[in-house]
Amino acid sequence: MTRAHEYVAYARMDELHELQQPRSDARGELNFLLISHVKELLFRAVSDDLDQARQALQRDDIPNTCVALMRATRTQRVLVACWETMNGMSADEFVAFRDVLNNASGVQSFAYRALEFAMGNRPPGHVESAFADGYKSLRVELAKPSLYDAALAYLSRQGFAVPEHCVEKVPWQQHEPDPLVEDVWLEIYRDPRKHFEAHRLAECLLEVAYQFSHWRAAHLLVVERMLGGKGGTGGSDGAPWLRKINEHRFFPELWTFRTRL
Ligand code: HEM
Repeated sequence: MTRAHEYVAYARMDELHELQQPRSDARGELNFLLISHVKELLFRAVSDDLDQARQALQRDDIPNTCVALMRATRTQRVLVACWETMNGMSADEFVAFRDVLNNASGVQSFAYRALEFAMGNRPPGHVESAFADGYKSLRVELAKPSLYDAALAYLSRQGFAVPEHCVEKVPWQQHEPDPLVEDVWLEIYRDPRKHFEAHRLAECLLEVAYQFSHWRAAHLLVVERMLGGKGGTGGSDGAPWLRKINEHRFFPELWTFRTRL
């Protein structure tokens, strides 16, 4: 192999480029396909950092938890910025190839679902379908506590009054907002110097949650721009469905406690 080919061989770039196979001659489709691939890979990069953060939390290692979470948020900002290139396409350019998608929709992305599961959004419907016919990576994820579960377990080990049922539930069960957990965050934010590491952890978690919601909000705007009031290829009614999803917040008590601060 000549030196000129080592880059191609190392990252299997020839195979990577083989994956971009538009189904139409429409101008916008190649870019749509490229950005979809880029986003899938970035979802995986964020998941990997969240997993590292979770492992550091389980060792009570807050500095390294924060390093991993801050790296995740950098990638999340790139994910948000990716919508910019999608916006370079006009609605008529999208309509020109939309039919070739058939029923394909981002809602079927297992990398995105794994990310949501890792964060702690584990609604029973998604959990059931992951166990029934989902990808192995989703079942592996559901066997682990979510990042938020791991954070609450850490706080409990540090002596904060986290309710027992929050730290002793089965991992695939979704954490439900609890006023006693809100009290714990309030205690931490009322004296951040005393609870320096817990406060640092909270700020890093909130930034991850913020960037995730930012991505969802930008997606909704792109959808309104491309579809108006049309339904989605995945079977939903489109923007109204996504608007509802936009109301969801990861790490709920981290958002709600501040009303009382
Ligand atoms: C013109 C571009 C796009 C449009 C019009 C669009 C539209 C939609 C719609 C209407 C939904 C709701 C489900 C459905 O009925 O299909 C949806 C869900 C979703 N889309 Fe997109 N989408 C676009 C681009 C993308 C891209 C590039 C990605 C990244 C891979 C993506 C990821 C997702 C995900 C992950 C969901 C599920 C959200 C959830 O379950 O919370 N979308 N999209």
